[in-house]
Amino acid sequence: MAVAAVLGAQWGDEGKGKIVDLLAQDMSLVIRFQGGANAGHTVYLAGQKVVLHQIPSGILHECCLNIIGNGCVVDAPALIAEMQQLDNAGFSIDSTRLMISDRAHLVTPLHRWLDTRSGVDIGTTGRGIGPCYEDKFARRGIRLLDFRNSEWDQVLHNHHERIRIMADSCGFGLPPEPSQWIPRFNESIQQISSLSGDTAQIIESMHKRGKPVLLEGAQGTMLDIDHGTYPYVTSSSCSIGGAFTGTGVFLPLDFRIGIFKAYATRVGSGPFTTEQDNEIGKHLRETGQEYGATTGRDRRCGWLDIPLLKLSCRINGFNRMVITKLDCLSEFEVIRAAISTDKQGNPVYKDFEGWNCSLSTCMSRTDLPEKCQLYLDFIESEIDVPLAAISIGPERHQIILEKSLWP
Ligand code: IMP
Repeated sequence: MAVAAVLGAQWGDEGKGKIVDLLAQDMSLVIRFQGGANAGHTVYLAGQKVVLHQIPSGILHECCLNIIGNGCVVDAPALIAEMQQLDNAGFSIDSTRLMISDRAHLVTPLHRWLDTRSGVDIGTTGRGIGPCYEDKFARRGIRLLDFRNSEWDQVLHNHHERIRIMADSCGFGLPPEPSQWIPRFNESIQQISSLSGDTAQIIESMHKRGKPVLLEGAQGTMLDIDHGTYPYVTSSSCSIGGAFTGTGVFLPLDFRIGIFKAYATRVGSGPFTTEQDNEIGKHLRETGQEYGATTGRDRRCGWLDIPLLKLSCRINGFNRMVITKLDCLSEFEVIRAAISTDKQGNPVYKDFEGWNCSLSTCMSRTDLPEKCQLYLDFIESEIDVPLAAISIGPERHQIILEKSLWP
């Protein structure tokens, strides 16, 4: 049975949630393999707004087991709050619905505290992601399995002491005292410990039994620690490599699906050559409701960057692409796409005539206005990967699927 990976091809927020949600209904297993509570995916359940940050989107489908893989960093108090929201919406969670790798590293309240104080200001989400991965790679991180260690209390106090000394010497001030965070932190770890285990073994066994598996990427390739716009990146591997290291199982990825918006956005600092810091950008932000699901920040908006998409296809070996938010371009007279850069590094654009009409009634690619089809045909021929789906609105049904290409 098929294994599919859904990855962001730009700077995150490409609309992966909707695609993962659509695919998850046919999956037995959905796995997050990197990142943590920096991700954000808004869903409406029984009329209530629920924002998923760490829990894979398969949680919304009853028959699906969801795994937070070893490549993720887990913020236990935030995870419990997320579980509570789901519980309020009628989705109760136990180990038949959610498992957490006991090798996943723990984000502590001190990581969060540090994230707002240290380092170059790259506009992080402030969720402690960078400091937690720093500790992981410095081989002094705390893993969920450490909770079983008889010296657990000492582990937390050592962590506190190290950060206190470092913060003091760097002039960051003093972190919260152990009594202000350890008891609640312990309680939250205790609560999630029944969900922890050797998830690689579960993944392997389900895959061997032919169960369909979906790997749900968070953030996007241009935020990847190795391949993104370093140092303006997140601290994990959000491209295809992370799918292997972050699960601990070699899964043949039959469907490598890259998701990209019909234009481009990014939050936080860093290069963005097609950015439109003007009326066009504002129009895109308002039409596309481009405000961060995790931080509420305005997203920076601009035109599609085709060389960037090509790079993303090269890194990830995408064999299917999905374009999202195409409807958000419907009011533009002229639509631009960068096709190269000049000697100064400025984007060179190709202009397309806007289609100026709603796409909401289109059921197939050939139903789309001709000018819209020209835009899609051009993108597809440039990136040389077929479009398996075209999202034309926020609702589940507002998507044109190319059935022959769909997992
Ligand atoms: P961090 O992941 O919080 O360390 O933030 C590093 C960079 O990645 C910042 O520019 C963030 O705005 C960006 N970032 C992190 N998570 C997401 C996401 O889910 N969507 C978009 N940008 C993100």
